[in-house]
Parts: sequence; C-alpha cells; structure tokens
Amino acid sequence: MQVLALRARDFRGYPQLEVELGPGLTVISGPNGAGKTNLLEALYFGCTARSCRTANEREVVRFGAAATRVVLAAQGADGPHQLSVGFAPGEPKRIAVDGAPLDRLLEAANRPLVSVFLPDRLELIKGAPGVRRAHLDHLVGALWPGRVGTRRAYAQALAQRNALIGRIRAGLSARHSLLAWDIQLADHAIALMGDRASATAAVAERYARIGTELDSDEELSIAYRPRSRARTREELAAELSERIDGDLERGFTAHGPHRDELLTLRGGRDLRAFGSQGQQRIALLALLLAEREAIATHRGAAPLLLLDDVMSELDGPRRHALVRLLRASGGQAVITTTDLDHVPEGEDPEVRRLEVSAGRVLGEVLAA
Ligand SMILES: Nc1ncnc2c1ncn2[C@@H]1O[C@H](COP(=O)(O)OP(=O)(O)OP(=O)(O)O)[C@@H](O)[C@H]1O
Ligand SMILES: [Mg+2]
Repeated sequence: MQVLALRARDFRGYPQLEVELGPGLTVISGPNGAGKTNLLEALYFGCTARSCRTANEREVVRFGAAATRVVLAAQGADGPHQLSVGFAPGEPKRIAVDGAPLDRLLEAANRPLVSVFLPDRLELIKGAPGVRRAHLDHLVGALWPGRVGTRRAYAQALAQRNALIGRIRAGLSARHSLLAWDIQLADHAIALMGDRASATAAVAERYARIGTELDSDEELSIAYRPRSRARTREELAAELSERIDGDLERGFTAHGPHRDELLTLRGGRDLRAFGSQGQQRIALLALLLAEREAIATHRGAAPLLLLDDVMSELDGPRRHALVRLLRASGGQAVITTTDLDHVPEGEDPEVRRLEVSAGRVLGEVLAA
C-alpha cells in the first residue's frame, strides 16, 4: 500500500501539515529543530496510531492545543484508503479506516506497513536481548499476520507458571501442580521458537547480502540462539521439570524462549560487544532493509521506510550504497537530512525533495 499524502493538525510543532510523498524516495531537508523528525513521527502516527519517539503520547500534541489529528491518504491494490487518528490526551484515540471506527490501527488489514530508523533505535543492536526478542516477534507478525498471537500466548502461560511458583513457595499449592502447566507452556514455547527461527531464516541471507553492499570489509550475519535446544513440547517440558528446584528457589522460570537471543555478527563477532558506532548503525540499517525486503516478498508490498538523519553518520561510499539499495528496493522511503548534499543522486527527478523550516513545509525543492 502506497502512502500518497499526509495531513495533520496540531502535531508537534506543526499547526497544519500537508505533505505528498513520492512513489519512491522522498527527502526532507531543513536546519536543526525545523521539524524533520516531527514529520516522520507524524507519518508513523498516521500508519500505527502510535509514536515512534515517545511512550508519553501527550508530547505529540502541539503546545497549547487540546488535540491532534493525522490523516493519511493511501493507495492499495484494491483502491484508495483513508486512515485517520484523532488524539486528545486523556481520551481514547479516535481511529478510523475509510470512515469505519476501529479500536486499534495495528490490527487493521488496510494500513500501510511502516518501518523506522531513528538514532535511538541503535538499542536494537546495542541493547539487552529483550529488545531484539521483541523486535523479532514484531517481525513475525509483519511477515505472517496470523501468528501475532504466539508471543502473547507464551507470555500469558509464562506469567501463570510464575504465579504458580509463587503460590508453591508460599505453601498454597503443591509442587506437582507445575507439571500440568509445563506441557502447555512448552506447547506455546515451541510455537514461538518456530516462528522466531522462520523469521530469522526469512531475513538472514538478505541481511548478509545487503550488509556486503553497505559494509564490504567483513561479512554481516544474524543468528537466532534459542535458550532451549528442545524440538518438541515433550522435550521442552522435560527440560522445565529438570529445573523445577532452581525455579522454586529463584521464584521464577529461568528457562525458555523468554531468554532467547538474536545475535548480530560482523566477521563472526558479536556487534553488540565489538562493533564500532558506525558498524552498529550499518548493521541496523542492513537489518531493517533486509526485513523490509522479506516483508515485501511475503506481503506483496514493501513497508514505508522512515530514515531519520542517517546520512550524517555515513561516509560517501556508504551514502551512495544506501540510496542505491533504497531505489532498487522499489518501495517508498523518506529520509531526513540537514544537508541535501548528503543525499547522493538528490537531483534525480524521481526523488521528491521537500524543505521544512520552523514547523512549516516550505514546499518542493527544485533540482539545482
Ligand atoms: N508538542 C510540541 N509542540 C510544539 N512544538 C514542539 C512539540 N514537540 C516538539 N516541538 C518542537 O519541535 C522542534 C523539533 O523538531 P524536530 O525534532 O522535528 O527537529 P529536526 O528538524 O528533526 O531537527 P534535528 O535536525 O536537530 O534533528 C523543537 O523546536 C521543539 O520545540
Ligand atoms: Mg531530527
């Protein structure tokens, strides 16, 4: 699904915002503080009804305004669609697709998929394993919407097992009551591990290839490292029962896919521990691009890719490689930059260039 236009009112620094996106690459330029990241955030908000920048969504409403509203016009294979999100702090969001109200935009079938690169997303490479697990589970949902529930089902079963451990420790339940739980937990765990392995497999080769284009010195790879080696629920239930003493002592379940890791490697070494800032950044870009390609293959369309201020940290050859990859990939991408010269091939007529300044979109920048 292609995003044609964005309209917003009272979003961050924008009293009014109206932007048309190109079918391929759109470049947003402007000085620091002009509203470039705010514009990407508005696009993300229009696609998901969430902020990609903050958990405190009140922040997106313009200072002094009571509410914000973001409307996206999109073109699907089945025709045009309109998504709208109205938000006043303290009230439920008002979300509608083609005029029909919805509770959660993320569950709508007719919405553009979106993927975002913000500088703080480096946490995905640098941060704790839980960040990568959550990301991997999110990818599962993007590749196979029918499987979004696997993670939730496992998390619920795990929480119940942990609660039962608490009751046993308090003398309120018998130890053997765990055994009945374990087979159910193991069932959800095996499904989750299977999904994670499939999602990693869908991305791994693409990641290596894109990694070579962006960083030709060493090979990039990813590897899913499940905590458990079990292949069936019976094997996993047996592993759990072997560890019951330790779990009862600790007070929680220490074994299972909630301890899995997704390794990102460069030249076979863990980037989290050994990668430079630039190498980690390139790995993150390669991962997002590889996922986008995999999603395009499985879902028939590439997600809208939002890249905030990525060029300033890349050297010349890597800037060229990134633009080449984006244009070859076929979907829509939006890049922000303080300096148009940082985006090679910026003069190409197929690239749409917009300039923002002090909370206003000044319009299209013509080729020099
Ligand atoms: N809720 C809000 N209401 C009004 N203005 C806001 C709000 N939230 C942020 N701003 C303003 O938005 C501006 C920052 O915009 P943004 O982060 O998009 O800049 P940018 O163009 O990405 O800059 P940089 O190049 O430094 O990243 C700041 O001036 C900030 O005060
Ligand atoms: Mg910014």
